[in-house]
Amino acid sequence: MNDTSRVPRVAVLVSGRGSNFDALHAAIAAGRLHAEIVLVASNRPHAPALARARAAGVVTHASESRGSGDRAAWDRAFMAMVATAQPDLIVLAGFMRRLDAAAIAPWLGRMLNIHPSLLPNYAGLDTHQRVLAAGDAEHGASVHFVTAELDGGPVLAQARIPVLPGDTPADLAARLLPLEHQLLVAAVAAVASGRCRMQGTAILCGGQILHAPLQLQDDASLA
Ligand code: GRF
Repeated sequence: MNDTSRVPRVAVLVSGRGSNFDALHAAIAAGRLHAEIVLVASNRPHAPALARARAAGVVTHASESRGSGDRAAWDRAFMAMVATAQPDLIVLAGFMRRLDAAAIAPWLGRMLNIHPSLLPNYAGLDTHQRVLAAGDAEHGASVHFVTAELDGGPVLAQARIPVLPGDTPADLAARLLPLEHQLLVAAVAAVASGRCRMQGTAILCGGQILHAPLQLQDDASLA
């Protein structure tokens, strides 16, 4: 993704609402992200995200994963379809399925996921609830490179919010979401532009090893 003469091709994988897709699409439209969304693909044919993508004029694909039986075969077929769009980068934006290691392997270093916690804390589901149950003072979101380990790949960037007295899981989710949108746009830009890349289990940004995740700044940049 170092060739600045061409527009980086991004495929977005979704299962739900699609607000993160919207954020990417809006950033591209506003000239804040140099990329093109070439496909939105879902394992949920009725995901609202697909309707949002179609309304935005983006090509979509859907294939129900529930009850598909052979998990690895479904993953293989789904990722083969995604590959036909020839993405440079695949972004999991609320994609609620754990893909098989073999399906991920060809995309190592070219697949990002956004997860609503400060990884490595709280991989998996119900992160807002778990943060409150633990009494944490801080919560946040992470964008990481996808590896076979669930929510376990190298973390590129994070956004943080304080946990306030009386917060409910819904409060945390609502307060975090706008930052997730900024974080995802900035992280996709960092990778699509070639500024940051995965190398083995590490991340290089500007040729330097990243020793801690980049942090979302007030001006929506990463530092
Ligand atoms: C986001 O909170 C994301 O972090 C989580 O699922 C949610 C997706 O939201 N994995 P949306 O579908 O992009 O609106």
